[in-house]
Amino acid sequence: MRRRESFADEEKLFLLTAKYDQDWVKENSYDGLTLYCAESLCQVLPLKEGMRVLDLGCGWAITSIFLAQEFGVEVWAVDLERSATDNYRRVKETGMKGQVIPLKTDARNLPFPENFFDAVISIDAYGYFGLDERYLSYVVSFIKTNSWLGIVDGAFTRELLTPV
Ligand SMILES: C[S@@+](CC[C@H](N)C(=O)[O-])C[C@H]1O[C@@H](n2cnc3c(N)ncnc32)[C@H](O)[C@@H]1O
Repeated sequence: MRRRESFADEEKLFLLTAKYDQDWVKENSYDGLTLYCAESLCQVLPLKEGMRVLDLGCGWAITSIFLAQEFGVEVWAVDLERSATDNYRRVKETGMKGQVIPLKTDARNLPFPENFFDAVISIDAYGYFGLDERYLSYVVSFIKTNSWLGIVDGAFTRELLTPV
């Protein structure tokens, strides 16, 4: 695992993310912010060692690696466009082989049994596949009872159109 040597002041709120090499994060994400998003989510998501987590639209799977590394969870890293082979290489390079399982598949056609996951997360991706109003009940079917769905995504802070 590549780790950073120094901590910038602005990163003191994100002590887990600050341990990671920011060049590695930028190379393997869309905007370089994905671990901040994952760490924010984990501040409210009670992940425990051994939980099974689905990371939907994982991209380069570094959020999956982060969750496995920092919380000891098993992560299924699903993305439609990113290569599972590339993601598997990254998983092996970071020592997370066996704890992160990359899969190239569509979040709208998931190959998992019902009630399989302790948590489903999605960072900056849910809008690509989850906007159909039927999607929420579909994805929830893969989560065990009393478990978790955590979404981090861009949003507006106010209505853009005033209803007439
Ligand atoms: C903005 S990127 C975010 C990637 C990653 N979560 C991150 O934060 O770096 C959105 C990701 O969603 C994936 N995606 C889009 N549609 C998808 C679908 N139907 N099923 C699975 N993944 C999808 C894309 O391939 C892309 O990697």
